[in-house]
Amino acid sequence: MLVSLLTCVPLFLFLMHSTCVLSGAKHPDRNDFDLSPTIRKLMKGYNSYLKPNFNEGPIEIGMSLGIASIDAISEINMDYTATIFLRQQWMDERLLFEGNKSLSLDRRLVELLWVPDTFIVNSRKSFLHDITVENRLIRIFSNGTVFYALRITATIACNMDLTKYPMDRQMCTLQLESWGYNLQDVVFYWTQGNDSMKGLDTLQLAQYSVESYYTSVSQAVYETGSYPKLVLHFALWCNILYFILERYVPATLLVALSWVSFWISQSSVPARTCIGVMTIHFKK
Ligand SMILES: *[C@@H]1O[C@H](CO)[C@@H](O)[C@H](O)[C@H]1NC(C)=O
Ligand SMILES: *[C@@H]1O[C@H](CO)[C@@H](O)[C@H](O)[C@H]1NC(C)=O
Ligand SMILES: *[C@@H]1O[C@H](CO)[C@@H](O)[C@H](O)[C@H]1NC(C)=O
Repeated sequence: MLVSLLTCVPLFLFLMHSTCVLSGAKHPDRNDFDLSPTIRKLMKGYNSYLKPNFNEGPIEIGMSLGIASIDAISEINMDYTATIFLRQQWMDERLLFEGNKSLSLDRRLVELLWVPDTFIVNSRKSFLHDITVENRLIRIFSNGTVFYALRITATIACNMDLTKYPMDRQMCTLQLESWGYNLQDVVFYWTQGNDSMKGLDTLQLAQYSVESYYTSVSQAVYETGSYPKLVLHFALWCNILYFILERYVPATLLVALSWVSFWISQSSVPARTCIGVMTIHFKK
């Protein structure tokens, strides 16, 4: 026992040591990637920690949205869950290259580039889809334009006014802000004004229909400064037919059913007993 332990320990130490040496030697450096000549040329001297035209005024970031689906609208939690495509575009003069083409880069190369730190202000929880790979796309054009798209599912808070529920329209928003760059660094704009939102008019929802929507540009003022902010507003209108069929009709039927025992004549005891037992069953 002792002998085997004594031989084991040095062997173990040796193995530990050799794996350490191996992993240390083979650790890939970002600059060692086997990039194509175009990309290697672009990446030379590129610092992804610095925003484009650093120290030379704000960079303009255009945004547009696509809604793939709205999965749930909850009056109880006052929120909705939506799957959205967030598309952002900007100019990065460090990425100019010869020719007329555009390059679609692998999503993993996103880490080598500067990208905006946009976030959804009123989201409660959200995630980037990663089946089968992370759902993001980056494309650079020879004139330096960068196009960056993400697919996100987010549960977004919506302040609902339920005083006249369900006969009222609900105004919901989706608010995008920059996390760290203030208005001196970054400016947001909607790429196509009120048409920057795609897919809302064709959306089919059971309980609600999207009545109208528009976009606006504003700013968020905090103690640390003013930050760029884009807001999408949309109005949800209840589908009354859905509420009648799903809520009012079943409730009415239940009440009518509970009256049945009163309609049966007093003398037919077996029928009344049956109904009575069933009513108890219903109450459960
Ligand atoms: C770029 O494309 C446009 C239209 O496709 C063409 O007219 C132009 O000559 C091209 N420029 C270069 C430098 O190839
Ligand atoms: C850069 O090229 C893209 C694709 O050809 C075009 O859509 C975009 O408007 C161009 N940007 C500028 C600033 O010329
Ligand atoms: C977008 O729509 C809103 C509300 O309908 C309107 O007030 C605003 O002027 C529109 N903006 C543009 C750029 O058309």
